[in-house]
Amino acid sequence: MTGPALTAILLAGCLLAQACAAPLAHAAGSRGAVATGAPEATEAALQTMQRGGNAIDAAIAAALMLGVVDGHNSGLGGGCFLLIHLADGSLVAIDGRETAPASATETMYLRDGKAAPELSRTGPLAAGVPGALAAYEFAAQHYGRRPLREHFETAARVADEGFVVNARYAAVLKDNIETLARFPATCAVLLRPDGSPWQPGDRLRQRDLARSYRALADAGSRWFYRGRFAQATARSMRREGGLLTERDFARYRIKLRQPIRTTYRDCEIVGFPPPSSGGVHVAQVLNMIEGFDLRSMNAGSADSVHLLAEALKRAFADRAHWLGDPDFASVPLGLVSKDYARLLARDLQLDAATPVVRHGEAQAVSPGAFGRHTTHFSTADAAGNWVACTATLNTSFGSKLMVPGTGIVLNNQMDDFSAQPGATNYFGLPGASANAVAPGKRPLSSMSPTIVLKNGRPVLAVGASGGPAIISQTLLALVNTIDFEMDLETALRQPRFHHQWQPDQLRVERGVPPEVRLELERRGHAVVETRSLSSTQAVAAEPDAGDLVAVSDPRSGGRAGAW
Ligand code: GLY
Repeated sequence: MTGPALTAILLAGCLLAQACAAPLAHAAGSRGAVATGAPEATEAALQTMQRGGNAIDAAIAAALMLGVVDGHNSGLGGGCFLLIHLADGSLVAIDGRETAPASATETMYLRDGKAAPELSRTGPLAAGVPGALAAYEFAAQHYGRRPLREHFETAARVADEGFVVNARYAAVLKDNIETLARFPATCAVLLRPDGSPWQPGDRLRQRDLARSYRALADAGSRWFYRGRFAQATARSMRREGGLLTERDFARYRIKLRQPIRTTYRDCEIVGFPPPSSGGVHVAQVLNMIEGFDLRSMNAGSADSVHLLAEALKRAFADRAHWLGDPDFASVPLGLVSKDYARLLARDLQLDAATPVVRHGEAQAVSPGAFGRHTTHFSTADAAGNWVACTATLNTSFGSKLMVPGTGIVLNNQMDDFSAQPGATNYFGLPGASANAVAPGKRPLSSMSPTIVLKNGRPVLAVGASGGPAIISQTLLALVNTIDFEMDLETALRQPRFHHQWQPDQLRVERGVPPEVRLELERRGHAVVETRSLSSTQAVAAEPDAGDLVAVSDPRSGGRAGAW
């Protein structure tokens, strides 16, 4: 993991040290449940359900409110993956990932033959065409019960009246002040008039954003993709040296994807397919560990951490080579086959870390290809609609570039492409040609919205924030509930760890006991302590606790709600 990513995670850990000691946000009810990363978003989602909305409406209400009160993580300038289980049992995967501009090129982030990371991380070249709005609108029109306008109006009120800046938001502003300060339109909103960052307790009003939300309430996404927003963005790009054009916006389309369905023990795991890498690698790791008796190893033991870390290493080596937008690269379906997982795991030793030199050969195993700083929220209703949605601008405040007069900050999702083979992105993830930049292509993601079914019915909707750690944290929520039979609150309380193959480090939260760390080191892991990894938001069916349970991870400062 690179310096900036590590700093961000450690900072989050410092901020959350107190929260982690506090009780987890937990709520139970029989009619609906919501877990999001912000109290205002959970409240908006619950109110929507109380007005007759379903879990899809609740997720959209939460998403739009998060864009107001948690705008460093997600917003209309970014993208999302929306995974839905409908009451009739059908599954929908809406890909609202950003796309590269039509004039993007494979070498656009190289200078003198070398990757120049700043170009894909900050400023006009960092942004792809945002897809979140198109995904929310599609979901509202096809599966919701409440008009999209209502969600926009609710969130616009908060944007207008302001919200109280919390310690996390203030810290993110402070941490990013130098890059934010390069963009006058961004400063005008996100910094105080004297140029200092807003402090905890300040009220932050976003009048331009409120106007944008109201324009969207009136005109729908046309305003964004074919109207004033596209025009304003294109103007800003021409001025700042970016590539996005009105035509790029007009050409944006969500993609409906086939979810990845795999079995694990007595459950069916439904994950998001490429361009997410999350669904593939959660399934791959589960397939690898299925041949081991994880349950007998006990949660948090050196044995179980070692097994999961070794499986993660192998999965992330495949990620670096094989994964990319399936509309551009041939991502082998064999990656999620159980036979392939057995092959990958055959040199996995229980008593020693084994070096993983390169990716596996998935295409030889099973032919065929997939048809083709972030926030997660989960919702469920009594009718059986469940949503797992992960949305992001990529790193905090994305490109930092706010489109003047709109209050909307553009993503820096272009950094999730591989600038050149072997070059690492912000999260230290290497990539290959499968994830090279190309016009209209979607960058590879780790976002892993996941729904678990048991006997055909949903029992868990889960996902996480935290770059590549999204994959490991989603995986831990699954094994803690399925293998270790923990209730959701206990499952999310467990200390976490993460391995992403490169760098060859096993990152562990402080809560992992010293004797476990020592034993992991003895087995050959380079153990690195971090105070907090990622944040998970989940809802579950727990008949003993009131049917539906929502748990919001204290690492996020969010809130669970149910009724
Ligand atoms: N931008 C982080 C991800 O999508 O994985």
